[in-house]
Amino acid sequence: MSAMISAPRAVMDLKNGALSGEAVAKSVKTLGELHGVFADTEAFASLPGETVVYRVHMYAPVAEQTEGGLLFGTSYVQPGKVGGEYFMTKGHFHQKRDRGEFYWGLEGRGVLLMMDEQGRCTAEEVTPGSLHYIPGFTAHRLVNTGDVTLAVGACWPSDAGHDYGSIAQTGFPLRVVERNGLPVLTKEGRA
Ligand code: F6R
Ligand code: MN
Repeated sequence: MSAMISAPRAVMDLKNGALSGEAVAKSVKTLGELHGVFADTEAFASLPGETVVYRVHMYAPVAEQTEGGLLFGTSYVQPGKVGGEYFMTKGHFHQKRDRGEFYWGLEGRGVLLMMDEQGRCTAEEVTPGSLHYIPGFTAHRLVNTGDVTLAVGACWPSDAGHDYGSIAQTGFPLRVVERNGLPVLTKEGRA
């Protein structure tokens, strides 16, 4: 018998990056799970904890921690603000610090904050088609500065892992807030 051409193991919607397939997992992060992330604690407390801030689709063809493999995902950050600060992801260093990652913009508009281990922070604009190389030893966080969902694709080594602890302690030195209707970077309200 000749070899068979099989169906792909996963499928991606080319427009918004939505993933489907057996090895695709979907997760949701609500405001209630983001204590200490936003600067304005009063505004944070006044918002319903069940508010969805972001969702992640992840295609894991190999198990996390596997050396030599890759993981693939799409992150969807909702539009919204806590006080003047735009909705964003928790942000993390990779547990294996030297592991890098690619991000690319799919829909909406936002900012990618990156911070090295010395706390030096840079910010790149994310728009459909923008491509972002996140080097190793660099924490990363997505911020939605628009009024529609920000969809961003990602591909990273399967053994990278996530370290949220260091970010929870020191935060990022820059925040993205709205001033006169526009997103600006500020050092105020540093966690
Ligand atoms: C994977 C990666 C993304 C994020 C996602 C959610 O290494 O960078 O898939 O995991 O954008 O953000 P966090 O993980 O910071 O909650
Ligand atoms: Mn990452």
